[in-house]
Amino acid sequence: MSVTGGDSRHRISVQSLREKKCKREPIVSLTAYDYATARLADEAGVDFILVGDSLAQVVLGYENTLPVTMEEMLHHMRAVRRAVHRALLVADMPFGSYHCGKRQAVENAVRFVKDGGAEAVKIEGGASRIALIRQILDAEIPVVGHIGLTPQSVHRMGGYKVQGKTAAAIDALLASAVALDRAGVSALVLEGIPREVAARISGEVATPTIGIGAGPECDGQILVFHDLAGLTFHAPPKFVRRFCNAGELISEAIRSYCDEVRGGGFPSDAESYHLPREAGRANAETTPAAAASRK
Ligand code: KIV
Repeated sequence: MSVTGGDSRHRISVQSLREKKCKREPIVSLTAYDYATARLADEAGVDFILVGDSLAQVVLGYENTLPVTMEEMLHHMRAVRRAVHRALLVADMPFGSYHCGKRQAVENAVRFVKDGGAEAVKIEGGASRIALIRQILDAEIPVVGHIGLTPQSVHRMGGYKVQGKTAAAIDALLASAVALDRAGVSALVLEGIPREVAARISGEVATPTIGIGAGPECDGQILVFHDLAGLTFHAPPKFVRRFCNAGELISEAIRSYCDEVRGGGFPSDAESYHLPREAGRANAETTPAAAASRK
């Protein structure tokens, strides 16, 4: 039991992620944005749940991740927090929440912990973010790094392109990974980079690496929930595996509902409430039809 009374034996902490890397136990991560899916993910045994800024696209319908605000992220963080009891809960710092200086970054990281119940925050970017990450760590908040294809840099990258394909780009990625490792991040997301480069980084740093489009040699994997469940409206990128097609199942259910309502099949008598027998008889005598027949 923890000092706060909860059973902390099976809770995943940032320390557990390192232990898993040492024991070569793959780390399973998934995004979640609401109570129901977060609860399903937690109960299914996901180790680390990220309230990702992909919220912008998969839940809020924005074209990219750039417009999502701290308020929108916090609203979803709180719903996920209420559902998660085992997994490590990580908040994604949205675009603009840490780009205007270290003080702003620390203040927003603190909001995620105090108002959203986050146990760590994720920040996109490599070597150039080290000073800022140190400040957040100094505020006792664990940080998850994120390098490679960083969606918040979509305009600078000129689109969502696989990164780390030239010798210079590979060196820069390795340097960033080592710098983040030395700064003390708790995990490092590697997104959209060649498998061979991700394998090299994973072998060179003590920090657990979490891949998305980075091959199987990472210490763990992360997917966007809507990609895994088939709840997106575009052809998925190569690295996505749809583990089910919930979109099709849900569409089918909604079509059946429309048909049943229009055809008079829903709700049935069994799906309706009834008055008790006595009240039913009295009611029958006072219905407009009964009153009219007495005139
Ligand atoms: O926002 C997100 O979903 C992410 C993951 C893809 C790592 O950052």
